[in-house]
Amino acid sequence: MNPSHASHQELPQFPESLWVATTELPTFSRLAEDIETDVAIVGAGITGITTAYLLAKAGKDVVLIEAGQILNGTTGHTTAKVTAQHGLIYHEFLNHFGDEKTRLYYEGNREAIEFIRDIVGGDEEKFGLKLEDAYIYAQTEDKYLSKLEDEIKAYEKLGIPGEWQESLPLPLPVRGAIKMPGQYQFHPLQYLKHLTEQFLKLGGRIYENTTMDEKVENDGPITLLTKRGGHRITCNHAVSASHFPFYDGKGLFFTRLHVERSYAIAVKPETAYPGGMFLSVDQPTRSLRSATYNGEELVIVGGENHPTGRSICTHQHYENLELFAGNLLGASAIPYRWSTQDLITLDNMPYIGPITSNQDRIFVATGFRKWGMTTGTLAAKIISDQILEKDNRYADVFNPSRFKADPSIKTFVAQNAMVAKDFVAGKFEMSHADITELKPGEGAVVRHNGQRAGAYKDEQGNLHLVDTTCTHLGCEVEWNEGERSWDCPCHGSRFRHNGEVLEGPAIEPLKQLDPES
Ligand code: FES
Repeated sequence: MNPSHASHQELPQFPESLWVATTELPTFSRLAEDIETDVAIVGAGITGITTAYLLAKAGKDVVLIEAGQILNGTTGHTTAKVTAQHGLIYHEFLNHFGDEKTRLYYEGNREAIEFIRDIVGGDEEKFGLKLEDAYIYAQTEDKYLSKLEDEIKAYEKLGIPGEWQESLPLPLPVRGAIKMPGQYQFHPLQYLKHLTEQFLKLGGRIYENTTMDEKVENDGPITLLTKRGGHRITCNHAVSASHFPFYDGKGLFFTRLHVERSYAIAVKPETAYPGGMFLSVDQPTRSLRSATYNGEELVIVGGENHPTGRSICTHQHYENLELFAGNLLGASAIPYRWSTQDLITLDNMPYIGPITSNQDRIFVATGFRKWGMTTGTLAAKIISDQILEKDNRYADVFNPSRFKADPSIKTFVAQNAMVAKDFVAGKFEMSHADITELKPGEGAVVRHNGQRAGAYKDEQGNLHLVDTTCTHLGCEVEWNEGERSWDCPCHGSRFRHNGEVLEGPAIEPLKQLDPES
């Protein structure tokens, strides 16, 4: 890399994902009456839509509920790699879960790739599906190289196709890399728009802008309640595919998941991209793949992961990606930038299946650790099989009620200590910005009437003030400058500048405060 090759391009002022910007999706009304159905699915991302499609195809009456607009959550903001190479995972899983379960993890994800391949059929161009090799690479410290060496040994032990490489097709010097051939990339929203249409043709129903209450009645038929209007959905089975589970059911998911934010930009490269999907094992992470946009090739550059709500200057993360892209390929334009948050479980294995061991009619799928394209598809297969009372050989691996003392316990304690620290630290921190010094487009934590408050000055100069106490479990939200949102470090809830909920688990908006009082 030669920094002198870097070309500086303006980042778009507002975040928007390439996928969302290039897909016209149907819209649906809010649920405004009591209804009955076989299966109610909450959350219309890849997991919810694929589960809905599979169950409708099997003859079930299915209702899909979305708190916002379909496909506008994590699925709309992914880098959309369809691969079983999920970073460094196989060595870790071998040590923690043993050969059989780790092999099932790989095979389940491989099967998900084949499922997507089958749905796409011969329409590769329409869905942007492209066969690519996936690479993980180490560039810097010895510890990253030795992790990669452990990983290739795990591939060999499990019989996973992988090849050790001394160099990459990219102009990026590396100390080693693992190539997993025969993977894919696609346009996730074009693909899921198609599955949504198929679901509707099969008689499925979809409601948007419908937030579900966290209370669920389940002695007798299951009854879900809408937050607004208290409308009832009576069903035989319910599925939480809402990223953070909308219903906890004593599964204590808020203590068993943590949230990471990551960033992506789409750049028009000045030098030709050689193809391939890449991910660094070094920190900060870097991820690359190509995409077609208006007949031209773009490169999606991602990375810069950090725990949600724990990075003060989020815009800096975009600038770091821009610099990396400019140095590597040159960037003649950056038409899109976006970010997302991913949920990660205590042992890095997603939670897929009955929400607790004694509630076998309510299911959850969450904690995909950034690999939701394949794992979300696999989750749909597992849960639809469970509802249809068919055997599924992967179900046991992902069972949310599994318990392994090592390293879960350590992580469990660490995660909750971290949440507790955020809870307490947020309440007592002393340094706050001066409300009078905010410029248009800026937000900050301020003091208002002696209380911690969140202030945002919009482009017209109007001041918006909110109570920074997160309405989920009371942690203190922080300003996310890159997305212009209030983010909670504890479980990842996000709110608009005026307090409206952008992402759960919170259901209620932040309390608005009167700037004049
Ligand atoms: Fe749980 Fe804010 S306290 S998301």
